Amino acid sequence: MSQSHMTRRQFVTTASLAAVASQTVPAYGNVSRRARKLALLGGKPVRAKDFAHWPIWDKNADEEAVVSVLRSGVWSRAKVVAEFEREYAELLGAKRCLATTHGTTALLTALHSLGIGVGDEVLVGPYTFIASINVILLSGALPVMVDTDPETFQVNPDKMEAKITPNTKAILPVHILGIPANMDKVMAIAKKHNLLVVEDACQAWLAEWRGKKCGTIGDLGCFSFQNSKHLTCGEGGAVVGDDDAIMDICHSYHNFGRPYGQSMLSLSGWVRLGSKCRMTEFQAAILLAQMKRLEAQAQRRWENAAYLTSKIKDIPGIVPHRLYDGVTRAAYHLYPFRYKKEQFGGVPRAKFLAAVQAEGIPCSGGYGPINKDPFFEHTLSSPNFQKMYSKEELDRCRQQNHCPENEKLCKEAVWFYQSLLLGTKADIDDIANAIAKVYDNRSKLL
Ligand SMILES: Cc1ncc(COP(=O)(O)O)c(C=O)c1O
Repeated sequence: MSQSHMTRRQFVTTASLAAVASQTVPAYGNVSRRARKLALLGGKPVRAKDFAHWPIWDKNADEEAVVSVLRSGVWSRAKVVAEFEREYAELLGAKRCLATTHGTTALLTALHSLGIGVGDEVLVGPYTFIASINVILLSGALPVMVDTDPETFQVNPDKMEAKITPNTKAILPVHILGIPANMDKVMAIAKKHNLLVVEDACQAWLAEWRGKKCGTIGDLGCFSFQNSKHLTCGEGGAVVGDDDAIMDICHSYHNFGRPYGQSMLSLSGWVRLGSKCRMTEFQAAILLAQMKRLEAQAQRRWENAAYLTSKIKDIPGIVPHRLYDGVTRAAYHLYPFRYKKEQFGGVPRAKFLAAVQAEGIPCSGGYGPINKDPFFEHTLSSPNFQKMYSKEELDRCRQQNHCPENEKLCKEAVWFYQSLLLGTKADIDDIANAIAKVYDNRSKLL
């Protein structure tokens, strides 16, 4: 029937059905969206409003906490820091907590206090922030890279034992992106080979492995409270542990080598080489205020992440991360998936990221292959390392630095930052709809 032979009613019905058919594309799983023009190509974005800004604070309570420290005139480490340490230890289920200036200094304090240094090798995954590797090198030890499990984005524990040598002293599992590493396997390997375990939980506040908080499973656990972090005071860190003797050493080390328990004003009786990385009262006051929101936010991210996975898992070319069986909660400092460009008609990841960003969804490609960055060779060939290690030892360290799975993952990863997970289900729908819209229009991105 040509248009000229239709009744007006028939025409309107047919036209509107055709319009719907051309706009609505069958859903992938439970994602539904309109195949409109991509925002990157001049169309209307899926989302026009911002996601939650970070950090979040309470105008009254948080500001009052800071002002009251200011007015007290006691700004250096004192009772507010001690109160934070008690509360954070209790929240995690750890016996002790020591507050520090940064996650980096927390890790340095932990490594130093456990006697990890020159001549030692530390097993670590390369899929991490640079600080996890820096602290090993700054301690004078050698990082030995264990390849990444691309499905979980975590260090692959099945590749650890092959890297153990008589010099291996510790494992530094990083719960990267706030997702727990496989702690059953890490702890079993550590026990079998008599290795220390320092958890880098700098992105994993309230993440859990079999109901136990990340950071409380190994010998010591370290946290960061830098500005982007879920518990933040701008800059800050903490070491947690259950062994009083070790925690006493951590405390002493972070306080110039003063014996633990001695007055902060004492000027003699130093017992060990120490650094100084004490948290201020201002930092602790903000953390105490922030901590009141931590559990509810952690639960929200955990639930929204599961919802996001359910919405995007059937979109071709999108491979959500897998959680190990022991994960009872991930903190999701970042929500990751792998982007398979072959299923997007060969659209490069950078183009995919630009298209999703243009739809109003911030995202990034995440870490590069850190073990290939120039800092590594720069450090190994430095005069200090040449004094500390023989040429053979340094060459062995260079040769083991081969992580092909990690390199591939660095090319495929896509991340969403934690604050995107703090909203409603409708906010998460926007993320899923944007990805699906980019998929539908993939041919136009070439
Ligand atoms: C995995 C990891 N380890 C260590 C650190 C170091 O923490 P900070 O920046 O507080 O020194 C960070 C910080 O981003 C991190 O993400």
